[in-house]
Amino acid sequence: MPAAAPVKSFQPRIELNPAPVGVDRRAEILKEPGFGRYFTDHMVLIDWDPENGWHDERVVPYGPLSLDPATAALHYAQEIFEGLKAYRHEDGSIKVFRPEQNAARFQRSAARLMLPELPIQWFLGSLDALLNVDEAWVPAGGEKALYLRPFMFASESFLGVRAARKVTYAVIASPVGGYFEGGTKPLAVWVAEEYSRAAPGGTGAAKCGGNYAGALLPLSEAAKHGCEQVVFLDAKERRLVEELGGMNLYFVFDDGQIVTPASDSILDGIIKNSLHEVAADLGYTVTERPFGIDEWTQGVASGRITEVFACGTAAVITPVGRLVWREGEVNSAPTGEAGPVTPTLRRALVDLQYGRAEDPRGWMRRINHS
Ligand code: PLP
Ligand code: COI
Repeated sequence: MPAAAPVKSFQPRIELNPAPVGVDRRAEILKEPGFGRYFTDHMVLIDWDPENGWHDERVVPYGPLSLDPATAALHYAQEIFEGLKAYRHEDGSIKVFRPEQNAARFQRSAARLMLPELPIQWFLGSLDALLNVDEAWVPAGGEKALYLRPFMFASESFLGVRAARKVTYAVIASPVGGYFEGGTKPLAVWVAEEYSRAAPGGTGAAKCGGNYAGALLPLSEAAKHGCEQVVFLDAKERRLVEELGGMNLYFVFDDGQIVTPASDSILDGIIKNSLHEVAADLGYTVTERPFGIDEWTQGVASGRITEVFACGTAAVITPVGRLVWREGEVNSAPTGEAGPVTPTLRRALVDLQYGRAEDPRGWMRRINHS
């Protein structure tokens, strides 16, 4: 076998924004950023085609992309994305939580969507490059962070259905606070009995936009029933719990056991996998196994399940209280307070992310200054 071609080093051209957001306006935004509403002054763009591979890596002013109406991603949703956060520590350093895990998942998503894999070093380099120019946008204090959104889409103008021969990779960044308006108030979640998020052999394990578009209708149904999120079940029998539309689930039992659902069609969450280890460090037994919706309803009703929570980059750890379906509901946080395990795990995770706790596994990656 011929040796694989060496990966070219990532050396972006930098074009600074001639009209960045003013210091005062930025400070105002960082005080109350919300989620995904404001964007930094720059973005990363990289092009790909079969002849040149990944090329023309650049940091440019944030702004609209000009797309041909026949751009394939707009028609056939050949698109993937990632989500991760950069945190400002008290010593002023900026660290990103396990970005190489996102880089690897991005490659798995690319493989499923017939998109070219971006080398891990280019993924990490693209985050460094953006953070280098937009470092001032990483909020300080509170539970705020700079949310990084790498994405890749079929940018070839062609209406035939086949893998695109022109692809664009981009990274944008948005200062964020909490994802939910209610903060860490327990969520009410609605069981999707008619709709699936993913099917065996489908794209559930990939982070592709289409999965989220399909979840919007059940999400609107959830809202009509006073719920903030949707619980998706397995598509075959609608018996096993998979995940929420944008976060994984954990169940805490009265004997200290903690369970998170195993399935081939859920997104393999980086927070989920990290919590597995954090919880084990704190002495909990964590199991990943198929988990039935009946086990949830009956477990809460009998008191065996004492806490339920959702986790993900955007959601961090958010308790789940009410589980609502057409025929009834159960509530694992009837007093409106979750605990004690959920806040303990949340504190352990957040302290690690913000540099207030030891990082024995080296999960926090310091940005490389160029
Ligand atoms: N599940 C879905 C469908 C998601 O969109 C996310 C968010 O990225 C997660 C789970 C949690 O994944 P992570 O912990 O890597 O953010
Ligand atoms: C994330 O947590 O990064 C996501 O992509 C989920 C989405 C609900 C914002």
